[in-house]
Amino acid sequence: MSSTLRVGIAGAGGIAEIAHIPAFRRLPQVEIRAICDINHERAARVAAQANIPHVYETFAAMLREESLDLVSICTPNVFHAPMAIAAMEAGCHVLCEKPMASTVADAQAMIATSELTGRKLTIGLHNRYRSEIQILKRVAQAGELGQIYYAKSALWRRSGIPGYGSWFTQKKLACAGASFDIGVHLLDLALYIMGHPEPVRVCGTTYAEFGPRRQGLGGWGRDIYREGPATFDVDDLSSGYIHFANGATLVLEVSWAAHLRDEEHLMFLGREGGAEVYSTLFGKETPLRLYRNVHGEAVEMTPVLPRRTISPYEQEIEEFVSQLDKPTPPMVTPREGLMATRILAALHESASIGREVVL
Ligand SMILES: NC(=O)c1ccc[n+]([C@@H]2O[C@H](COP(=O)([O-])OP(=O)(O)OC[C@H]3O[C@@H](n4cnc5c(N)ncnc54)[C@H](O)[C@@H]3O)[C@@H](O)[C@H]2O)c1
Repeated sequence: MSSTLRVGIAGAGGIAEIAHIPAFRRLPQVEIRAICDINHERAARVAAQANIPHVYETFAAMLREESLDLVSICTPNVFHAPMAIAAMEAGCHVLCEKPMASTVADAQAMIATSELTGRKLTIGLHNRYRSEIQILKRVAQAGELGQIYYAKSALWRRSGIPGYGSWFTQKKLACAGASFDIGVHLLDLALYIMGHPEPVRVCGTTYAEFGPRRQGLGGWGRDIYREGPATFDVDDLSSGYIHFANGATLVLEVSWAAHLRDEEHLMFLGREGGAEVYSTLFGKETPLRLYRNVHGEAVEMTPVLPRRTISPYEQEIEEFVSQLDKPTPPMVTPREGLMATRILAALHESASIGREVVL
């Protein structure tokens, strides 16, 4: 690898423009050499704004023409696995946006390629870098909660469907809806705090009560694939009941749209202590509350968040770049991405067959 890290961006849409490109550009060792998008006009506009010298209409052309060290994949979900595999085979490290892949087989193939080529692969689950999550992770890792035996991770959006007829609402491009879009973040946060115990059984339910009626539309996403009648054939509410080999249980609940107030709530119960992340109730400055018994008395602690100087996206990209030439694994390992993929796939399988799935 040359001293300059040559980066290529796949997809010039929302997340690339808002998060990835600015986060790469602040790093002095990075040069964003190229961007590709099937929407050439969008790629050209983003490239002009961010001084990216080369613009391509296809990922294959970008890989073929450029000598890149790292590729950032910001395209619809079904393209994650084939692009990540092609990039690693071309010698690039990969930051792949979440969800890791559409299927368990795809996620396994990504891991196999990473191991075969020696290229690093991470998944864009930047929420782990939130200050309250980092504090809670240190508390849990230090054993202060004891073993976590019951947890809940929920994100309720009242109106958050990302663009009716956008790729997000089409199974053939997104694979699934709220579960794969925001559910994967909430699932990852819970698994991260619980220490990634081995999942053994999953019971899931999925609904699409708003999308098919063109209700519950939200801010993110655009109707870029809206040619002819628009499609909504994914879930807008999903829940899962996940059992782990260590006896723990996790309840996962997510909605893109529901008759309920917007809310994020994570809850962890351990033998020695409990914790909640609940910014909607506790406030953004003090979203974390810890519960313990001290000398027999019930005590609540409210950590005050340190002032952040960089965003979770910036931290994710800075840390991934800085450990590329070190033997340390990335913050989000591919195997952790695979575990989340297995659970989400089982949740959908359970919902479709109407009974629990054994992993
Ligand atoms: N980490 C997060 O919190 C977060 C937030 C938003 C989106 N995402 C993820 O990022 C990815 C992109 O989401 P988005 O909101 O930026 O979507 P978007 O629709 O705004 O952008 C996607 C872009 O990919 C382009 N594209 C589609 N197919 C392509 C192909 N085959 N080759 C090249 N370009 C192609 C589209 O033209 C579009 O410009 C998704 O996987 C999504 O789940 C992650």
